Amino acid sequence: MNVLILGSGGREHALAWKIAQSKQLNKLYIAPGNAGTAIEGENVNINVNDFEGIKSFVMEKNIDLLVVGPEDPLVNGITDFFKSKEELKNVLIIGPDKAGAILEGSKEFAKSFMQKYNIPTAGYSAFTKETLEDAYLFLEKMESPYVLKADGLAAGKGVLIIDNLSEAKDSLREMLNGKFGKAGSTVVIEQFLSGIELSVFVLTDGINYKILPEAKDYKRIGENDTGLNTGGMGAVSPVPFANKDFMQKVEDEIIKPTINGLQKENIDYRGFIFFGLINVEGSPYVIEYNVRMGDPESEVVIPRIKSDLLDLLISAGKQNIIETDIEFEEETVSTVMLVSGGYPEKYEKGKEILGLDKIKDSIIFHAGTKETEGKVVTNGGRVIAVSSKGQNISQALEKSYKNAGLIDFDGKYYRKDIGFDL
Ligand code: AMP
Ligand code: GLY
Repeated sequence: MNVLILGSGGREHALAWKIAQSKQLNKLYIAPGNAGTAIEGENVNINVNDFEGIKSFVMEKNIDLLVVGPEDPLVNGITDFFKSKEELKNVLIIGPDKAGAILEGSKEFAKSFMQKYNIPTAGYSAFTKETLEDAYLFLEKMESPYVLKADGLAAGKGVLIIDNLSEAKDSLREMLNGKFGKAGSTVVIEQFLSGIELSVFVLTDGINYKILPEAKDYKRIGENDTGLNTGGMGAVSPVPFANKDFMQKVEDEIIKPTINGLQKENIDYRGFIFFGLINVEGSPYVIEYNVRMGDPESEVVIPRIKSDLLDLLISAGKQNIIETDIEFEEETVSTVMLVSGGYPEKYEKGKEILGLDKIKDSIIFHAGTKETEGKVVTNGGRVIAVSSKGQNISQALEKSYKNAGLIDFDGKYYRKDIGFDL
């Protein structure tokens, strides 16, 4: 098998690391990749949204399987593009077509899908500029805090949670007037749910599915979950409160109806589904769907998969996942994300990263890095994920923190309280 992974973050390094261990692999490419993926395979300088460029490369290198890491090319229709080209029809693709990617690409679609298939989620209504007055009335009838969500992709910044009614009205008006561009031309207003969040993943072939290990992500920049939202500052898997009883509810009330709903909508979904969930007094609710793996969740979930991931991906692509088994490591895996000073706001790139060669008992997943003139330098807000295994959360974290201290670059910052609430 020749495999091409699209993307350049920690998630893609974790995918590449695992796929590189498969006996079925012939050659692995990552586009555009980072300094870490270059250790697992060959980086190719093609943008994830350059469909024609990807097509030429896939044909030239006889790629058999395309794994789409981020949501952007999926929402833009890369899977539809591949299906529409005679020469690409035999390439297996991990990632849904546009009709499936809209689960992440439109919050309004996701909410109406959940309502239609009785999947537990917060009550909601959707509004546009034309229905602003109705939206105000809707807000007045709700209780604080107010949850406002831009319908479209807004790079993780499109959700506002506001305590005060008049501020909520002001923000709503700003959103509908273009604060998040086109993504905010429809706004979903929903009931606030109080509980603890977790991420659950499945790999599906559209008919059957395998549930992957669950994870808990730490999204805020500051300790004790304070400050601005980021892509994720660390993660832990397994999640202690996601016990057998809770996960059974997740499967029965959320996973099964989602897969059945996709089939009923005639959506041919082959790929990962990421369920962003919240545990409200023992009952799971869906906060959001993503049509890809999480990041940094991948950096703890993938090291816990014992089975050959490439086998699983091939069977998802061929729609015979039911014939493939999946086994997990019982151990806990934690990851601590090292980020650039200033992130998630303005930060500098190009800082040399030192100490990577000193790490013996953690797995280093590169996120925003690149190699220039023989040096590994920072190339993004999230730079390196330090993933470690242990018998329990504190043992795993002890290694991640020890090694986080050994890696150095100008402006390095990381949260010291990953797992604090578990
Ligand atoms: P989303 O982009 O939909 O995942 O929302 C971003 C974050 O906002 C989530 O991870 C939650 O922490 C929070 N959030 C979103 N919707 C709700 C809700 N209905 N109730 C409480 N918190 C929410
Ligand atoms: N860590 C959250 C995400 O990947 O969206």
